[in-house]
Amino acid sequence: MCGIVGYIGKKEALPILIKGLRRLEYRGYDSAGVAVLDADNVTVKRVRAVGKIDTLAEKLKAETMAGTVGIAHTRWATHGGVTEDNAHPHTDCSGAVTVVHNGIIENYRELKKRLSTKHVFKSETDTEVIAHLIEAHYKGDLRLAVEMALTHVQGTYGLVVMHRDSPRKIVAARLGSPLVIGVGDKEYYVASDTSPMLAYTQQVIFLDDGEIAELTDSEVKIVNHHDQKIDKHTEQIDWDEAAAQTNGFAHFMLKEIFDQPTVIKDALRGRLQVEEGTAHLGGLNMTEEQMHKVRRVILIACGTASYAAMVGKYAFERLAGIPTEIDVASEFRYRDPIIDPHTLVFGVSQSGETADTLAALREAKRKGAYVRGIVNVVGSTMARETDGGTYIHAGPELAVASTKAYTNLIAVLIMYALQFGRTNRVTVATGQRVVNAFLEISEKMTRALKTSAAVRQIAEKYRGYKNFLFLGRGINYPVALEGSLKMKEISYIHSEAYPGGEMKHGPIALLSPEFPVVAILTKNQLYDKMRSNIEEIRARKAPLILIATEGDEDARALADDVIFVPQTMELLEPIINTIPLQLFAYHMAVLLGKDVDRPRNLAKSVTVE
Ligand code: F6R
Repeated sequence: MCGIVGYIGKKEALPILIKGLRRLEYRGYDSAGVAVLDADNVTVKRVRAVGKIDTLAEKLKAETMAGTVGIAHTRWATHGGVTEDNAHPHTDCSGAVTVVHNGIIENYRELKKRLSTKHVFKSETDTEVIAHLIEAHYKGDLRLAVEMALTHVQGTYGLVVMHRDSPRKIVAARLGSPLVIGVGDKEYYVASDTSPMLAYTQQVIFLDDGEIAELTDSEVKIVNHHDQKIDKHTEQIDWDEAAAQTNGFAHFMLKEIFDQPTVIKDALRGRLQVEEGTAHLGGLNMTEEQMHKVRRVILIACGTASYAAMVGKYAFERLAGIPTEIDVASEFRYRDPIIDPHTLVFGVSQSGETADTLAALREAKRKGAYVRGIVNVVGSTMARETDGGTYIHAGPELAVASTKAYTNLIAVLIMYALQFGRTNRVTVATGQRVVNAFLEISEKMTRALKTSAAVRQIAEKYRGYKNFLFLGRGINYPVALEGSLKMKEISYIHSEAYPGGEMKHGPIALLSPEFPVVAILTKNQLYDKMRSNIEEIRARKAPLILIATEGDEDARALADDVIFVPQTMELLEPIINTIPLQLFAYHMAVLLGKDVDRPRNLAKSVTVE
């Protein structure tokens, strides 16, 4: 969703801001803008454009925007249409205050009505009220004016502000929408995530909710809403600029699909114990006694992360024998979930910023559950708000459609299940089988990636179809769901996913020679059951693409097209079997000329409800 970048220092701000906006493009946006403060001439120049950063950059060619202080924004429209007037930065009446904002100001209508008697509004956005509120409170101290303004505001914000009359200062405030400060040599960056600053610094300060930061040339001062100073640690992050490049791949998504064999090793490293046949995830922060008392696990997530969680459910129930539920976060938070102190709740999230997942975890915490996070983005809100948990170490995931985070989330969930299982019913020998399967998984993922050229040919063959049905059973049902979601997201082809056994209860009516089926038929305990479902499809003459185990010649005879993948332990199959489906969606989208990395209407990090 919306992205923020700001800079104060010795360098020209504009190139840093534009490069930063490009780094934020992955979040999804529909307009962009930049404002630079020229301290010598005490002027603020602002340029905004609807559409891509390239359009903004084109417009900027006709401008001179000198200055070493500036802020910029990518907007994903919520309040008000996609227009230049609604694009950020927004200003007050005189153009002295300039504001960029992520989040939603819930009481903006009342505030706008009140302010309209003395202030002139130029946009339909909720954000603009903040600029006018700051104008109303400004008496020479920008930080104080922001603090005062925010006392009137209800809602969420990641906010960055400049004032023409405080030319060597930027003020940033956070409540419910992340902000990170990058610490350079007598220069500071501020952004909605670390990606715009990775080229310059890996020293960062994560702002927490309720904190306001004042950045000048020489220092960062952080206060709370009562203007009391807060001492914060500067943290070193291990992601670097190289990890955020396409490295010769045509798209981030393809690069991230191919990253998987490498980053899964990062998720497993130091966590598997071969001798004991277990895994150890230190971040769990629970004693064995507390672990024994866990009676129920709830995995809370959205979208792709919820499909990873589904695999986690199989693993927890099979290995640890603990009843496990998956709850889609937006549903969980508005039900009246039954939670007791023996419930362990995991938030499962790539970004760690998904608004619904965060709210659901807060609800679970309020009701007394153990709450832990399984997260990719270091320093994200989920990582900070939970009482423990684990980073999945997938590295920056910049394509909107999640791929490598999904497989790493699964790996961590299975390791957790093993860790719990070994405290109750899993033997050393069984535990060792899981550990050994993990030790071979990276090499098998590399083999699964070798299907890419064949998958592209299949995509060529099927590119004209308007619908697909994805089928899987057992642990491969979440794989079918994920394959279908990827197809919808990036190629905009309608697809549905069903458990194989559910076909004859309705969806089979859809099947015809115009409705291809993608089915997962790998060698596991449900092979014969799935095979029967496939016979039912063949009888309806629907074109059939199978994901099958290497060496299964029967599968070749059954289907129109087969993609062979290496065999692994059943529990780990989703890590392998999802790869050709990621590739199928990718190649299909490329062939159809879609914007693979930034599909329409989608945002990478869904920070609003
Ligand atoms: C799909 C996708 C989304 C996310 C979902 C949750 O490719 O990326 O469905 O999985 O929005 O996001 P996180 O994992 O950041 O909580």
